[in-house]
Amino acid sequence: MSPVDLVRPEIRAERAYRVPTTIEASAKVDQNESPYDLPADIKQRALAAFGASPWNRYPDDRPHRLVRAIEAREGLPEGSVIVGRGSNELSHTLALCFLERGTPVVLPSPMFALYASVARMHGADVIDVPAGLDLRHGADAILDAAREANAPLTIVTTPNNPTGQTLAHGDLLRLAAGVPGILVIDEAYHEFLDGPTATDVLRAHDNALILRTFSKAFGLAGVRLGVMMGRPELIAELEKSRLPFLVGRLGEEIGLAILDRPDLVAERVAVLKAERATLEAALGAHEGVEVLPGAANFFLVRTPLTPADLQRRMAERGVLIRDVSGYGALSGRDGTPGWVRVSVGAPEENAATLRAFSEVIAAA
Ligand SMILES: Cc1ncc(COP(=O)(O)O)c(C=O)c1O
Repeated sequence: MSPVDLVRPEIRAERAYRVPTTIEASAKVDQNESPYDLPADIKQRALAAFGASPWNRYPDDRPHRLVRAIEAREGLPEGSVIVGRGSNELSHTLALCFLERGTPVVLPSPMFALYASVARMHGADVIDVPAGLDLRHGADAILDAAREANAPLTIVTTPNNPTGQTLAHGDLLRLAAGVPGILVIDEAYHEFLDGPTATDVLRAHDNALILRTFSKAFGLAGVRLGVMMGRPELIAELEKSRLPFLVGRLGEEIGLAILDRPDLVAERVAVLKAERATLEAALGAHEGVEVLPGAANFFLVRTPLTPADLQRRMAERGVLIRDVSGYGALSGRDGTPGWVRVSVGAPEENAATLRAFSEVIAAA
């Protein structure tokens, strides 16, 4: 018997999450990152604070200052927040808490693929709720699925990745009121939306949990910081299923630094939203091209080329976009072209994206 045969079958059935190593690109618009790094003076202050701390000592087992800053910002009571190394990691904390073999988990699709993978690795039963032809999800279909399966866990994302579509705030409230178990709302991109956030849902319903990230609008994907928020009694249980010392002192300092600059985040989000509208219109103006506008910092595009071909031709011109046709609903299997996802970059990246796209479409 090979040692590999000892690996649980649920793990062996998965594929490792790998993103190709970044090649030198004039536009890197394939991972929904922010194009904006933290200004050098803010970086220096965070580094100096970290440098003055003892590196030989463990940090707080939870980064209290950062946790309290998030609670204060959201107007939530103490004990409402867990911070981890990216919300990716917190999805494992969540799964450990709620999932065992055969647990029904309602996951609308297409949706950020990690959730289904984590659920499968715990042996849970993934209950798919497919989007409509417009790639939007109806709250009623999600509610029906959750009730029918009596699902302890239902996860929704708004704005959703990879579609860029949203669930209305009223739908989130209705879902929290109606699902038989926990409702997790992934709000990785909420800064790009106007109106109330899901924190309101959490105030109204004790079964809601929210996941957020510092990787998108905050521009800290390389630092790895994610947030889970919920009622303190539920968070106290999730605290047991997280690993100790999830975030070190450096992450805490950097997190505090960006929370101190809401003006900077708001200014950058406004630029990205304006750039998104311009780029969506410019790409969509090409003949035979369809754009599905997005509510976050990315949108979907389909052209007469296959997604793989389009991605390759764009990469040859230094522009990295993402072929998302691996998601069933985006595959174009019904005879329509499959979709690619384009993130919004800095203005010069968006100009490079448009230039390359026009060349590729003209040559096709
Ligand atoms: C919907 C959604 N949730 C979570 C994440 C991951 O966030 P983090 O970088 O905090 O792990 C992503 C990243 O693409 C995402 O699109």
